[in-house]
Amino acid sequence: MKTKPGSRAAVNPGDRECVHQPQTILLVGFMGAGKTSVGRALSRRLGLPFEDLDDRIQNREGKTIEQIFRESGEAEFRRVETAALRELLGELRRSPCVVALGGGAFVQAGNAALIEEAAVHSVFLDAPVEELLRRCEQEQKERPLRQNQEQFRELYEKRRQSYMRAALRIETNGKDVDTVAAEVACSLGLG
Ligand code: S3P
Repeated sequence: MKTKPGSRAAVNPGDRECVHQPQTILLVGFMGAGKTSVGRALSRRLGLPFEDLDDRIQNREGKTIEQIFRESGEAEFRRVETAALRELLGELRRSPCVVALGGGAFVQAGNAALIEEAAVHSVFLDAPVEELLRRCEQEQKERPLRQNQEQFRELYEKRRQSYMRAALRIETNGKDVDTVAAEVACSLGLG
């Protein structure tokens, strides 16, 4: 029998289905998907803490994401990203929360395996690439992997299939942050 998300009752301790993290929700998607803003709204709605993987990386390294890319390159950024993700997933065993991943984190094969083992809810926040571009252009945030429109579109196409491996896909185009957060909660049966 399937156990509802959030319920700890009648779960066999050997059963991996959401045993440790009944409510942890991992928001994934491309740059501009709204992972951080939806994550904050969702955490308020569910009364769960919010974690942003990029913030954790910056705190661990004492550098901004942009600095890490500039000084050490993408390969080093991916190494520290995986280390931060591993650390975070370890902590989630004790305290579930809402997590926003950076746009490339879910795409790395090693990270995807770590996430699968952790048995969290992965949710892909989707939007057409033109909308993602528009949102990124409006935001002040430094994004080392947003170089020009053509490169942005190519990277999006390359990654889209990986995002589609998330357990749930939510379309965000034309919706405000609270509406998307409500849809995520309802789709996961968390009201
Ligand atoms: C990245 C996205 C960024 C940040 C880093 C790399 C990517 O996060 O992790 O610049 O590879 O797409 P956002 O998706 O929050 O912009």
